[in-house]
Amino acid sequence: MKRRTFIKNGILGTIGIAIIPGSILSGRDCSTTHSDILGPYWSHNHPRRTILANSEEPGTRIFISGVVTADDCETPIQNALVDVWHANDNGCYSVFQECQSGNSNNDPYNLRGIISTDQNGYYGFESIFPGYYAGRPRHFHYKITSPSGLELITQCYFEVDPLIDEDWEQNHPGLVIPLEETENGLVGEFNIVLNEEVSAVSVDSNPFSLPKRFSLDTLYPNPFNNSIKIDFTINNFGYVDIGIYDITGKWVSNLVGKKMHRGKYNIVWKGDNMVGKTVASGTYLLMMKFGGSIQTKKIKLIK
Ligand SMILES: [Fe+2]
Repeated sequence: MKRRTFIKNGILGTIGIAIIPGSILSGRDCSTTHSDILGPYWSHNHPRRTILANSEEPGTRIFISGVVTADDCETPIQNALVDVWHANDNGCYSVFQECQSGNSNNDPYNLRGIISTDQNGYYGFESIFPGYYAGRPRHFHYKITSPSGLELITQCYFEVDPLIDEDWEQNHPGLVIPLEETENGLVGEFNIVLNEEVSAVSVDSNPFSLPKRFSLDTLYPNPFNNSIKIDFTINNFGYVDIGIYDITGKWVSNLVGKKMHRGKYNIVWKGDNMVGKTVASGTYLLMMKFGGSIQTKKIKLIK
C-alpha cells in the first residue's frame, strides 16, 4: 500500500482490521493498563486529529492503534478521548520548548493530538518515532478519558529501544510494545484497559438514551471586524469541540475543547490564531463537533 493511500484511508480504515478483537483478549489475563507519570509537557487544548506530524517532519513514520476497553478487557469504550503528545526526533517538545528542527508549518501543537475512539473502542494515529531526551527511552505520552470522566495517564515504550531493559519492563508492565517494520513505517498496537466498570459503559451505549444534539445558533456580527460572538446549544452532557479553520481547511484556532453540560452558551473569537496573532482578512470556517456530528458555518473577517 502506498503511504498516500494509507494516510487518506486513515489508520482505522487500513490496519484497524489487524487489531485483536476484544473477544480474543478476554481469553488471556485481564488487568487494567498500568499508569505512568504525566511529565512536564502535557498542555491543554490539543487539537482533535489522527495525524500528529506533518509529512515534512523529520523522523521515522510510525502508526499506533489499539482498542480502549472497560475493566473486563472486552467491552469497548466508544468516544473515549485518547490524548497523545511526544518529543520530536531531537527530543524537543512543542508548546514548552523552542524546537530547532521540524515543524515546517509552525503548528503550535506539533506532535500533539486527541483521538476519539469509534464504536468498537478503536483509536489510531500517525506520527514520527519519538526522539530521546534526558536519558529516557523513546515514548508516547497518553491521557485517556472515558465518556464518564474516568482518566488514565500512562506512556507507551518500545521493545526495539536499546534503553529498554528487563528492569524497565518489570517496572512498566504492559507498557512496552513490539513494533513491526513495514514499507509505510513502523506499526504498533497499544491496547488500553481502563478501570471502568462495564455497567458504566453500557449506560452510555443504551440505544434509548437521548441522542446528542446540538446547534450552532447566531453568529454576530458577521462579517466582523474586531470580534464575533458565537451562540451554541447542546442538549446533553458531552465533549464540545469548536475550532476555526481557513478556507483551505488549515487549522487556525481552538475555541472550545472540553466536556460541558446541556445548555446555551456563547463564546467570542477575536480573529486571532492559537498564539494570539491576528489572522488576515478573509473567509473562515467555524466547525463544531459534538456527539459524533459536525456542523460548520462560514464567517468573514474584514479589517
Ligand atoms: Fe516525555
